[in-house]
Amino acid sequence: KGKAKKAAKTATKAVNTAAVIGAGIMGGGIAYQSALKGVPVVMKDIADKALELGMAEASGLLAKQVERKKLDVKSMAKVIASITPTLSNDALKNVDIVVEAVVENPKVKGAVLKEVESIIAQDAILTSNTSTISINALAANLTRPENFCGMHFFNPVHRMPLVEVIRGKDTSDETVAAVVAYAAKMGKSPIVVNDCPGFFVNRVLFPYFAGFSKLVLDGADFAQVDKVMEKQFGWPMGPAYLLDVVGLDTAFHCTDVMADGFPTRMAKLDHDPVSAMYKAERYGQKNGLGFYAYSKDAKGRTK
Ligand code: NAI
Repeated sequence: KGKAKKAAKTATKAVNTAAVIGAGIMGGGIAYQSALKGVPVVMKDIADKALELGMAEASGLLAKQVERKKLDVKSMAKVIASITPTLSNDALKNVDIVVEAVVENPKVKGAVLKEVESIIAQDAILTSNTSTISINALAANLTRPENFCGMHFFNPVHRMPLVEVIRGKDTSDETVAAVVAYAAKMGKSPIVVNDCPGFFVNRVLFPYFAGFSKLVLDGADFAQVDKVMEKQFGWPMGPAYLLDVVGLDTAFHCTDVMADGFPTRMAKLDHDPVSAMYKAERYGQKNGLGFYAYSKDAKGRTK
């Protein structure tokens, strides 16, 4: 009896329904991946247009699966039907887990997380897909920090295997176990990491972006840097192209968070090209213009 009680206590909470808050590049991708792997998902945003884009992205990815004969048309329709786009908070009441994926701004995220926590079930898990913001800082205004942790996917979600599960100081073992299990169910390879600005991957990636920015400020041609990194060094994307894929608005906000967290190592540069792009509203692929220009007619990027 004692053993059974202990097993029940330590059993991993099953995630059978999920919600994403924010239907952008990441929210749309996370919703698609969750639905594809059999976990129905509510996709919540504040803008109708964003929901339309999120659904269009998911449908496009599913159509590709059908083209490649990995999915039949009937299953595709079933997967699409398991994503529920909404502007309302009502559907959040019954989900097992929420992945917050709104803009990378501590204040906005703090307010959204607080609001969502007040709506979801007492034992539901709350996570943030933040790229850089400390999980402990985001947990500060929550009433159930034990149910909260980071769940950081990478872009594009359907292709990148890694998910960082970030444990805050109050995150319970049960929460970590449930989020790891959900990531695995989504076909991902989760790693559990401690909390700090940038976590694991972005502590490696953002100094690399800073190195790129310094090169550009020293006079290097960004396209030349990409060419060397891609063609000669063999990486799938050079830094300028990667920044366009990430979104220069998101990269700008992340750079701020990293500079706050590591004032010496990641000090902001004067005339940083990422800031310049952001201020000129060149956000990258998402609005067709970043370091490169993107158009539906031209294949890929043009300088
Ligand atoms: P995005 O700009 O494409 O999408 C953000 C979405 O959030 C928009 O659709 C916006 O309408 C919505 N939104 C804003 N405020 C909201 C609110 N109060 N309630 C509901 N929805 C709201 O941004 P993206 O790139 O998807 O980034 C989202 C998060 O994911 C950020 O924290 C970012 O750092 C993180 N992330 C981004 C990656 C990338 O490569 N873009 C990679 C990994 C994480």
